[in-house]
This record gives sequence, structure tokens and C-alpha cells, in this order.
Amino acid sequence: MKKVAFITGGTSGIGKAICTYLTIKGVQVYGTGRLAVNGEITKEGYTLVQCDVTNTESVNEAIQYIIKKENKIDLVVNNAGIGMAGSVEDSEIEEIRNIFNTNVAGTLRVCKAVLPSMRSQKAGLIINISSVGGLMGLPYRGVYSSSKSSVELLSEAMSMEVMKFGIKVVLIEPGDFKTSINLNRKVSPNTQHSIYKEEFDRIHEIINDEVTNGQNPFKIGKLVYKILLKKNPRVRYNTGNFSSKLALVLKRILPTRLFERIIMNHYNIKRK
Ligand SMILES: NC(=O)c1ccc[n+]([C@@H]2O[C@H](COP(=O)([O-])OP(=O)(O)OC[C@H]3O[C@@H](n4cnc5c(N)ncnc54)[C@H](OP(=O)(O)O)[C@@H]3O)[C@@H](O)[C@H]2O)c1
Repeated sequence: MKKVAFITGGTSGIGKAICTYLTIKGVQVYGTGRLAVNGEITKEGYTLVQCDVTNTESVNEAIQYIIKKENKIDLVVNNAGIGMAGSVEDSEIEEIRNIFNTNVAGTLRVCKAVLPSMRSQKAGLIINISSVGGLMGLPYRGVYSSSKSSVELLSEAMSMEVMKFGIKVVLIEPGDFKTSINLNRKVSPNTQHSIYKEEFDRIHEIINDEVTNGQNPFKIGKLVYKILLKKNPRVRYNTGNFSSKLALVLKRILPTRLFERIIMNHYNIKRK
């Protein structure tokens, strides 16, 4: 029997690559788009479902649409997400709320909607797309980093709660991947007339360059398929390049002030 997968954010970047790769591998794939029409078939061959992860009703309807058609969902990838750049001080509460509503509450809404059916089928795999930025506070991406670190801990906790029902929870922590995330990233308007402006503008350019020169998102499609085939997947899979993998090791072993200095040197951030 074909595996059935539900991937949020199936219209672009990493989500689109996951949908495409799984379709090639014979999985029945449903990817979401906020502007999609239910049942629309993409040129890559997977089906689109309308879903906005910031809207509980929309999430519930999307999950029910698939369960009605397929009677099951084997795999959920919580991929839909948005970036945010700006200093912590410049970030307005409403902007922070929007990022958390998509990246954190969006993931939670989808889990809540799909868990009853996964529990009743006594099986299921939930993969949450986090970020290397969820494992360390990145300067001028504090809100984004903290939203992804919330996804990390939610996933760790949920994994222990749902294991008894045969459900596995896995985190993928990408480094920089070449997608449309630069175009879709929110930038606080306050940065335009901010004390941080000069430094922010310079670092924002570095952030954009790192994504532009990032890896091919198909790598994550392959990883998702590999995890789907595993009987006992790990809790986390880091898919960064060499320097982001090194940063994770250094973060684990170095005193925090020393690690902070390395990150500040990398971005050439003024100490005084
Ligand atoms: N690219 C990287 O370097 C990188 C690194 C680490 C982690 N990530 C994470 O990977 C995930 C995918 O990002 P990407 O790089 O592929 O970005 P992207 O190209 O901008 O794609 C974002 C996707 O999320 C969907 N989306 C956004 N808001 C949504 C909402 N409210 N409801 C439903 N779908 C929504 C978009 O679909 P519609 O607009 O069609 O609805 C789109 O398909 C994100 O969680 C991101 O944080 C990316």
C-alpha cells in the first residue's frame, strides 16, 4: 500500500523539494499552499491542498480532506515557516506573534489535527523542520531562532508522549538552503531608523548571501525519504554544511562566552 504524506508549505523551497522527491519515490503526496485549490495536481505530480497553518479551521479541514480520500496519513512534515530578521530590540510584539503563530503554533495545530488518526492507526511519523538557528541564538535573527528552538523542545516533549502509540517524532535541522526564504523573510520596519541599522544591513546581506549560496533543498527531500524508511529514526538530523556542523560541535563543548565570541567574529559584530 502506498504511504500517504502531508507536507505543509509544498509550494516552494524545501517543502516543494520534499513533495517532489517523495512523489518520485512512489509516496502519495499532499502538499499545502495558502492559495492552493484542493485537488490541484502540480506539474511534479503531487496534489495540493489549501491550508494556512495560522488558522486552526483551515488545518483541520486539510487533514480531514486527506483522511476522507486516503483513510490514513503515514507521514506529516511540518515545514511551513517564515524567517524574520531584525534586532531583538527593534522587533514589535505583533511581529513576534506572527512568526510564532506560523512556526510554532502552526506546527502544533497540524500535530493536534493529525494525532487522533495516527493514534487510531497505531503508527505515524511526524517530521518537524527546525533550523541550525534553533540550536543557537543567531544575531539579528533572535525571534526566528527562538521560534525554532521552541519547535525543538515541543518535538522532544511530544516524542516521549506519543511513542507509546507507535508514533515517531523527528527533527530536521537544516543549515543554509537555497530557497525563497530570503524573499519571504519578514524584516522589522523599525530597522530602517534604528541604532542597529548599519550593523543590521551588513549582517542581513551576509544572511541573504549564505542562503543564496546554500545547498540544494533536494538533499532534504532525500533525507525525509530515508527517515520514512527507517524503523528507528534518530530524534534529530542536522543537514547543515561543514561550518554549521562545526558550529554545533563548538556550541556543545565551548564555554558560552567563547562560543559567543566566535559567532561575533564571524559576523564582525562590534563588542564596544
Ligand atoms: N532555506 C533555509 O536556509 C532554511 C534553513 C533552516 C530552516 N528552514 C526552514 O525550512 C522551512 C521551509 O523554508 P524554505 O526555505 O523552503 O522557505 P520558502 O521557500 O519561503 O517556503 C516557505 C513555505 O512555507 C509556506 N508557508 C508560509 N506561511 C504559511 C502559512 N501561514 N501556512 C501554510 N504555509 C505557509 C509557503 O507556502 P504558501 O506561501 O504557498 O502558503 C511556502 O511553501 C521553514 O520552516 C524554514 O524556517 C529553511
